[in-house]
Amino acid sequence: MELSGKVAIVTGGAKGIGLASTQCMARLGAKVMMVDVSAVALESAKQSLSEFTDRVASVTADISRMADTERAVRSTVECFGAVDILVNNAGIQTFGDPVTTTEEVWDRTMNVNLKGHWMMSKAAIPEMLKRGKGSIVNISSVQGLASQRNVVAYSTSKHAMIGLTRSMAVDLASRQIRVNCICPGTVNTPLIEGVMRLDSDPEHLRKILDKMHPLGRIAEPSEIGEVVAFLASDRASFMTGSIVTVDGGLLVPIAGSPE
Ligand SMILES: NC(=O)c1ccc[n+]([C@@H]2O[C@H](COP(=O)([O-])OP(=O)(O)OC[C@H]3O[C@@H](n4cnc5c(N)ncnc54)[C@H](O)[C@@H]3O)[C@@H](O)[C@H]2O)c1
Repeated sequence: MELSGKVAIVTGGAKGIGLASTQCMARLGAKVMMVDVSAVALESAKQSLSEFTDRVASVTADISRMADTERAVRSTVECFGAVDILVNNAGIQTFGDPVTTTEEVWDRTMNVNLKGHWMMSKAAIPEMLKRGKGSIVNISSVQGLASQRNVVAYSTSKHAMIGLTRSMAVDLASRQIRVNCICPGTVNTPLIEGVMRLDSDPEHLRKILDKMHPLGRIAEPSEIGEVVAFLASDRASFMTGSIVTVDGGLLVPIAGSPE
């Protein structure tokens, strides 16, 4: 299996894209540490991954706290002996335009969606250097390449994730650590379920979301997890600093939907 012998960390590993990435990489033979702020979600994630009990472990940590990121990496090394792969996936969706966004929302969004990924990388990179190579996969969004109304902090954090990817790729290439970024379109996860619940007509919103994507539907989490596993693996050995859009064609049509 192509990830046999590799140790991966997945932040936000308890749900959605993080859980699917954990599953895809464990299926390919990796040992995976799920890092998540929710202990309850980690418990149910572990139950859903019962076929991989020897390969999957978890640690409760808030990636917006430096001490937690260091502890998460230390726990991974104690549990599995090394770190080869880091998937910077944990994220929160926040809303607001430049005026309605509060300082608290701005800071929280940046601390989780941006600073947390730098801090996890800062803690994990020395372990990758000991192995002589590594792979970091950052999860940004189509909102890192374009924007929509009322998401000023979220979209800014996702654009910055692309800057973080390129900057780390340049700094780390000579040391054989590859850094790539995935920009998903809409994915069927608890995050999106939460967004839909905010709408007065979630069913109608779901139809709009499906139609917005030229493939006619939103993604399943495993469709992002498969790309994560590929970028993490040696099959992507000549890729670094790449921004990979996985969006069912969402960003392709000029001036919106092709219809
Ligand atoms: N779902 C989508 O449509 C979509 C689209 C584009 C990008 N993304 C991005 O993909 C990533 C995953 O999204 P998802 O939809 O799977 O989200 P989700 O809400 O379903 O899962 C996110 C996980 O991250 C954890 N988390 C949140 N804050 C944390 C923190 N401070 N420390 C540790 N863990 C924390 C949550 O507990 C949760 O388990 C996010 O960065 C999100 O912005 C999602």
